[in-house]
Amino acid sequence: MKKIGFKLYLPGLSDYTPRNNNCIFELSKINPKMTEPVAGFSKFSKEEKIQWLSNYYLNNDPEAVKVLKQYWNREDKLQQLHDEFTENTISNFYLPFGLAPNFLINGRLIAIPMVIEESSVIAAASKAAKFWGSRGGFKATVLNTKKIGQVHFIYKGDFSKLQRFFTEVYSQLLDAVKPITKNMEKRGGGVLEVELRDKTEKLENYYQLHCNFDTRDSMGANFINSCLEKFAEVLQNEAHNYSDFNAEEKDIEILMSILSNYVPECVVRAEVSCPLDELSDDPKLDGQEFADKFLRAIRIAEVEKHRAVTHNKGIMNGIDAVVLATGNDFRAVEAGVHAYASKDGEYTSLTHASVENKIFRFWMEIPLALGTVGGLTSLHPLVKLALQILQKPSAEDLMKIVAVAGLAQNFGAVKSLITTGIQQGHMKMHLMNILNQQHATSQEKEFIIDFFRKNKVSHSSVIDQLEKIRQQ
Ligand code: MEV
Repeated sequence: MKKIGFKLYLPGLSDYTPRNNNCIFELSKINPKMTEPVAGFSKFSKEEKIQWLSNYYLNNDPEAVKVLKQYWNREDKLQQLHDEFTENTISNFYLPFGLAPNFLINGRLIAIPMVIEESSVIAAASKAAKFWGSRGGFKATVLNTKKIGQVHFIYKGDFSKLQRFFTEVYSQLLDAVKPITKNMEKRGGGVLEVELRDKTEKLENYYQLHCNFDTRDSMGANFINSCLEKFAEVLQNEAHNYSDFNAEEKDIEILMSILSNYVPECVVRAEVSCPLDELSDDPKLDGQEFADKFLRAIRIAEVEKHRAVTHNKGIMNGIDAVVLATGNDFRAVEAGVHAYASKDGEYTSLTHASVENKIFRFWMEIPLALGTVGGLTSLHPLVKLALQILQKPSAEDLMKIVAVAGLAQNFGAVKSLITTGIQQGHMKMHLMNILNQQHATSQEKEFIIDFFRKNKVSHSSVIDQLEKIRQQ
């Protein structure tokens, strides 16, 4: 790769060098009152926590305390529910809960609830839904639903002996988890496989029980972790009693038992397709021209990491928003999806496109470990509502819906990027944020929104217009 370029040195920044070690964070300098860690904070009542916070970090500012309390729910029961979701709750943090209607998925029209703070994401999803709705809609298929968990352990001895031991103890492992798995088995899930893996090439004496699970409609984290801890217990106890092991071999050290958020065999495929001559809705581009540009943009994301990350971030705008609305673990999904994007050794685009026989195709396969029972799904009233809007989907249905939201989002973003540019739509949606930042009155908002129907939105142009009105 040839690199030609100039470096620009900004005055002031160039003298930023880590001269000595005085960058250590000194709490007492920032907050002279706070010289010692607080003890027993979790035992304080909510009021006491806020009082403490106000005293030590908020300068006893009554406005700050008012903001915190403003977000408490007036219904005590609902507030208590939120207080009990996590620890040390002092308030609630709202995010917009929006709706992207008109998603035609496998022939069914679905309205997708989305929780996201970023303007224009829901608008882009809705637009893409409308676009593909009149071109046959989205097709989605679940390819597999295996979830993974591992017991990581240290064994100092002969591998063939460990293999023999594992074969002998295998049925005991499965029997030991029966009390945990019996309900899951009634629903058609359970433990699928337990495999002994030798990882000593990577790390001395390191072995694993690598286990596959089917957790049906639950995300299954608690189920998997409980099974793994039981496997670990049996493994360790039985090793102690195994007569073929010497003293060192008997002493298996369990390091950790935990599910993996990397689920390359819990994958869903979402796709759209249409004849080239139906592809463009832009009078300036015909279907072939649009497809050429679109395919090249996807190709760039396939071969260029910097673009791939942003491209995939756009996909995650759609995915995370539905994952959040349905009370699923978006950190798990993010971690798993990005690992999958680099499964072949290089981070690359999650979506792909082709044109064959004058048919344009756009698709994505991604791993999604989701649940529609358990966790927050029956606790959080808005999560329950989101699932109700989605007609109480199974986990597999939800995988399809989430994948479609991601694909639609990516289609919308790439379509804008290769035609109008992203800022046109984005800034229009961002206009309200700028107006709110400037504390615009409703009259000012009305006037400015009207003005920018015909003019290009930029931060400075909005400020200019606002100043003009205010001067008048
Ligand atoms: C912004 O949140 C998402 C985009 O950057 C995605 C993309 O570039 O494809 C617009």
